[in-house]
Amino acid sequence: MEFKHEPVLLKEVLEWLAPAEGGVFADGTLGGGGHSERILEKIGDTGTLYGIDRDEDALRAATSRLQGFPAFHAIHGNFHDIDELLPENVRLDGGLLDLGVSSYQLDTPERGFSYHEDAPLDMRMDRSAGMTAAEWLNSVSEKEIMSALYDYGDEKWSARIAKMIVERRAGQPLATTGDLVACVDAAIPKAVRRKDDGHPARRTFQAVRIAVNDEIAPLEQALNDWISRIRPGGRLCVITFHSIEDRIVKHAFRQMQNPCTCPPKAPICTCGKKPVAKVMGGGAIRPTKEELAFNPRSHSATLRVAERL
Ligand SMILES: C[S@@+](CC[C@H](N)C(=O)[O-])C[C@H]1O[C@@H](n2cnc3c(N)ncnc32)[C@H](O)[C@@H]1O
Repeated sequence: MEFKHEPVLLKEVLEWLAPAEGGVFADGTLGGGGHSERILEKIGDTGTLYGIDRDEDALRAATSRLQGFPAFHAIHGNFHDIDELLPENVRLDGGLLDLGVSSYQLDTPERGFSYHEDAPLDMRMDRSAGMTAAEWLNSVSEKEIMSALYDYGDEKWSARIAKMIVERRAGQPLATTGDLVACVDAAIPKAVRRKDDGHPARRTFQAVRIAVNDEIAPLEQALNDWISRIRPGGRLCVITFHSIEDRIVKHAFRQMQNPCTCPPKAPICTCGKKPVAKVMGGGAIRPTKEELAFNPRSHSATLRVAERL
């Protein structure tokens, strides 16, 4: 299947990263390589771009797309582990994290991310490691499923859906995306289902995907590790697609800008914690009307930028 993914907020990312000839950059979520390709065009043969993805299919597709750029270095791994993935002495002129899944992952039924088609319930971005969604849903407690649905999907029917999953798996373990959709359908009353926006399983699928790929807990530390890798004046751009991630990025960037823990009325700072970055662009940067019109995926996208001090 062809790797189709329209990069979001591309113009804005290029403006903030301002890649120039010979620059050193890292894209922690390479995906189809859409953002990376434009960065590579700007940094030329004397630059370096580390393209990281935990999905080997994505890495393969992007490597084939970007093979004409000598500055491109593909790395299979989790951007949470930047210190293990990049050589120790490398300092970046800028970094990009475009969080979540790609259109390619969503549109490839056998990856198990989509509620539109019946396929094995996998949902792992890295198919070489970790539990599949089916293994996770068939093994964790009802409470753990409920918390994930509530925390990562804002699902108000989380308790009923979790109960239904546990009841059904006692008869037969969940195996396919269709099995999970059926649990959601059975748990949410029909009348309410019709009033809710979008597909009734949308929130559940988002939540299970986030849990299976451990997308939230390591994020704040990862942002701090990334900013430490950027040289003064360089920028870290982060694109999020839902409020849970956006809140973490917003909070982490504010902490970088103002880490002081002294009481607000203290006359001078005695905690010794110094700012490491400043927030750029006034906070949340959203797609233009033009982008919203041609790329529906950009609707929920928010870009935040921090500049290393
Ligand atoms: C939204 S897409 C990126 C699209 C890309 N910017 C482009 O223009 O084509 C997100 C990609 O990041 C990868 N990804 C998500 N979380 C990751 C993580 N923690 N470490 C490495 N890759 C990750 C996914 O596998 C997916 O390919």
